Amino acid sequence: MIRPHIHVNVAMTADGKIDTTARRGAAISSQQDRERVDLLRAESDAVLVGGRTLIDEDPKLMVKSATLRKLRVERGLPEFPAKVGIVSEAAINVSGAFVTTGAARRLIYTTQRTTPAQIATLQAAGVEVFVMGESRVDLRVALESLSILGMQRVMVEGGATLIAEFFRQSLVDDLTIYIAPLIFAGESAPTLAGGAGFLSVDAPRLTLVSVQRFDSEGGILIHYRVG
Ligand SMILES: NC(=O)c1ccc[n+]([C@@H]2O[C@H](COP(=O)([O-])OP(=O)(O)OC[C@H]3O[C@@H](n4cnc5c(N)ncnc54)[C@H](OP(=O)(O)O)[C@@H]3O)[C@@H](O)[C@H]2O)c1
Repeated sequence: MIRPHIHVNVAMTADGKIDTTARRGAAISSQQDRERVDLLRAESDAVLVGGRTLIDEDPKLMVKSATLRKLRVERGLPEFPAKVGIVSEAAINVSGAFVTTGAARRLIYTTQRTTPAQIATLQAAGVEVFVMGESRVDLRVALESLSILGMQRVMVEGGATLIAEFFRQSLVDDLTIYIAPLIFAGESAPTLAGGAGFLSVDAPRLTLVSVQRFDSEGGILIHYRVG
């Protein structure tokens, strides 16, 4: 199978939560971490999120720094990395930030649960739509498609369900985690990886690349390679 390099990046609390129980996309990153994420996006061909993150939070997923965007253009790349959503039923607001912010290529990988009318609405808004799966998106086929479209480096920004599925299918190469000195608690608050979980014998193994005290707020940055 051909697939892009996959770099999963998350911000989590010291108790492993990536959002509060309110699930509104709580701020976790420091300013310095937001700048690091901007650079990671700028170095990627595509930035990818799961359906709940996309539909509930409507993220912009753009490179904010004008300097980084200029550097991309000078390297012969599009100004913005492509935005990619993995969505079972693509009930996406075409007036929202994901669709309208920045001159990025927008791609939605979805399933037969998305109606022809929803697909037509997205396409009319300039979104490229690929149907790959009956009830859940076939990630391997979607990644192969991204590869064919020339995307060699894909950054996965979450959420928990999608990240777990990338790990379950052995599709992750690098994992960076910013740990903020916060505790969100709450059993229903999402953690770094959700889904059905692994037995310890099946747990993906990580190799530590680096760990650093990252900012004056007490944040820590960990970089793992998978395997
Ligand atoms: N702190 C951070 O760095 C960070 C970053 C991003 C998101 N988040 C947080 O993560 C939370 C959302 O995470 P989430 O787990 O609820 O949702 P998610 O991972 O964003 O989206 C998962 C949904 O995508 C759909 N999907 C389609 N094909 C799939 C496949 N092959 N594998 C997995 N999912 C597939 C499924 O929809 P159906 O169930 O309809 O089939 C699934 O429920 C939010 O609270 C958000 O704030 C945090």
